Amino acid sequence: MATEIEEIRGVGHSVRRVEDDRFIRGRGNYIDDIRLPGMLYMAILRSPWAHATLNGIDTSAAAAVPGVIAVVTGELMAQHNLAWMPTLSGDTQAVLVTDKVRYQGQEVAAVIATDPYIAKDALQLIDVDYEPLDPIVTPQRALETDAPLIRDEKEGQTDNHIYHWENGDKDATDAAFAEADTVVSLDTFYPRCHPAPLETCGCVADVDSATGQATIYMTSQAPHLIRTVFALVAGLPEEKIRVISPDIGGGFGNKVPVYPGYVVATAASLLLGKPVKWIEDRSENLISTGFARDFHMHGEMALKSDGTMLGLRASLLADEGAFHADAQPSKFKVGLFHIVSGSYDLPAVHVSADGAYTNKAPGGVAYRCSFRVTEASYLIERLVQNAAYELDIDPAELRRQNFIQPDQFPYKSATGFEYDSGDYETAMNIALDKIGYADLRAEQQQARADGKLCGVGMASFTEVVGAGPHKDYDIIGVKMNDGSELRIHPTGKAILKISSITQGQGHETTFAQIVASELGIQPEDIKVMHGDTDNTPYGLGTYASRSTPTVGAATAMVSRRVREKAVKLAAHLLEVAEEDIEYEAGRFSVKGAPDRVKTIQEIAFAAYTDFPDGMEAGLEAVFYYDPPNLTFPFGTYAVAVEVDPETGVWEVKRMVAVDDCGVRINPMIVEGQIHGGLTEGYGIAAMELITFDEAGNCIGTNFMDYLLPTAMETPKFELFETVTPSPHHPIGAKGVGESATVGSPAAYVNAVIDALRPLGVTNIDMPLTSAKVWEAIQAAGGSGGS
Ligand code: CDP
Repeated sequence: MATEIEEIRGVGHSVRRVEDDRFIRGRGNYIDDIRLPGMLYMAILRSPWAHATLNGIDTSAAAAVPGVIAVVTGELMAQHNLAWMPTLSGDTQAVLVTDKVRYQGQEVAAVIATDPYIAKDALQLIDVDYEPLDPIVTPQRALETDAPLIRDEKEGQTDNHIYHWENGDKDATDAAFAEADTVVSLDTFYPRCHPAPLETCGCVADVDSATGQATIYMTSQAPHLIRTVFALVAGLPEEKIRVISPDIGGGFGNKVPVYPGYVVATAASLLLGKPVKWIEDRSENLISTGFARDFHMHGEMALKSDGTMLGLRASLLADEGAFHADAQPSKFKVGLFHIVSGSYDLPAVHVSADGAYTNKAPGGVAYRCSFRVTEASYLIERLVQNAAYELDIDPAELRRQNFIQPDQFPYKSATGFEYDSGDYETAMNIALDKIGYADLRAEQQQARADGKLCGVGMASFTEVVGAGPHKDYDIIGVKMNDGSELRIHPTGKAILKISSITQGQGHETTFAQIVASELGIQPEDIKVMHGDTDNTPYGLGTYASRSTPTVGAATAMVSRRVREKAVKLAAHLLEVAEEDIEYEAGRFSVKGAPDRVKTIQEIAFAAYTDFPDGMEAGLEAVFYYDPPNLTFPFGTYAVAVEVDPETGVWEVKRMVAVDDCGVRINPMIVEGQIHGGLTEGYGIAAMELITFDEAGNCIGTNFMDYLLPTAMETPKFELFETVTPSPHHPIGAKGVGESATVGSPAAYVNAVIDALRPLGVTNIDMPLTSAKVWEAIQAAGGSGGS
């Protein structure tokens, strides 16, 4: 009789997130939940000026407050060689100001006290002598010859220019433009916005003065990398630094950089011999920690009159803030922006990018985006829509005509990517069918005749995720490879240690499902550990939708490595040759005799109790994965809107999302990721904006000024899928975490522009607030209708 095995709830099953058990009971363990004996509290004094010379700081009144243990200044940090630190882009950043402040909200001093309120109150008693300087709040102004030099402390830095970067073939692109019947261009600004995680950044630094052991609990999406940076900055031995990222209340790229607060709290703990906690408040988080986007873009597309796309040019100016601090794979100064040709078979593409320092907070983080792909996707999808209008071709038809075809994969793009797989037309057809595109166009004609402004827009995005292959991808020289470690206990239960960190994505659930499929252990019998540098394999962390293509792959590979030994053990137990054992659906059986079977539990027991001579005991392995390529998720988002000509308010009537992320490990979690991303995409398109006045004051430092969509404003999403597996990923999966935020802003904006088209409006920069839309309607001279 064959042993009956219940169905393994592995890849493809909508297993409930195991993390939710603690989260919905309020039992998560976030930084602010951590309380250590004798712990002190740190608060940071931030500059009210965007650009000002620091003439002096008087800390005596603050130091005299009962309960204040120390006041830390840049001068004190400098005495320990810690006034400046390296950034993840190879620049330097002030930890506490010693010479001049370079953005509003920059860290000037810190108070350490026995109570968090004492620390915060004492900040007001620090007397700082600032001498204001002219602030620079746009990258265009930063690059003018008479602009004040922001980074005057940097040797050899004579202007505010940071980098120039080019990609693609300029001559071939010029030739394509020379052949064109039509050239369509677009100037657009992707505004500075904020990841706004629920939990702000913070840490508890605990340096044991007796042993020198530093344990730092930190809101970090990349604890291993941070540990290495700390070892290099502070000169501490790396094995004496343990970074623990406990539960993290959302990351969204905001928690990748190294923040001065982490460094000051650790230095304070080292000097005082006590644990020190630092937690940002909401305004501090909004004003000073890693922002996203802030890209000024110019795009041009060359086409034949029949709609054939011939070439694409993109030039960008990136506002990097006062320090170049974004984490980009180091060969690519603007991340993977050169995916800008998107889903189209564009033979010639040229990208040129420049970065500038301004008196604004640093950032440029991968906010729900794989390294600047959001900006690229937005530019191409807006350009395609305008090209369709210019040529009087339906926007869906123009896309269809130029899509890379399924038989062209693997497809080599003009900027050097090798797209792994795709079927763009099928995804678009489903989106159009589900939204009822033909009917909507007919209704639009009628609505226009009635003086109403109705629009339908779409975006057919291609993303690129999974950085990455070691030959091209590193952060400050550390290769972007990740690891998984798997140990099966004698009773057949398992522990999986992964180098990624989950901040709500559900890795504790999904990566267990990968092991389940590969070995036949139910996911609930696999404990997944992450976020502790002492207890997990080295890796570059979780951001840019890289976990599934890197750590997910490492997890499949480590399971297969364990399975190789399991097969040997099964052969031993069943007294057949190794080659006679086959594994299928959780069963190790004899080929041709399926009732002669061993379960993984029986095999695991034998690994410790009954293994052949010459074999090592135990059943475990570790695997570091070097991806052969990136993965390329794609999809089409279609949106129908109605705009009120009297107020500029636009309402989403329908939102249809078709996503293809290859094989879905957990379909329910994938849908959750897409819902989150679509909401963020809507927020960016409709309302989120960090802006600055002429003096460099940040507007958007609280949730009254910085608007996030709530459930009230968020449209209803209708989700569909296609499945085009990645041929090189061990289980055919691609990432999905970022796709919806990458793809959807253009779909919303395209729909609104489509509605306003009869008025001659061809562009409005995000966010499309009702005021801006109303102004565009007024500028176009009226309320529409034809
Ligand atoms: O790097 P990050 O975890 O943010 O993004 P991801 O790799 O796209 O994964 C987000 C979540 O979706 C994880 O829990 C993945 O395991 C899950 N996922 C999935 O179930 N199937 C896919 N094809 C892709 C992701």
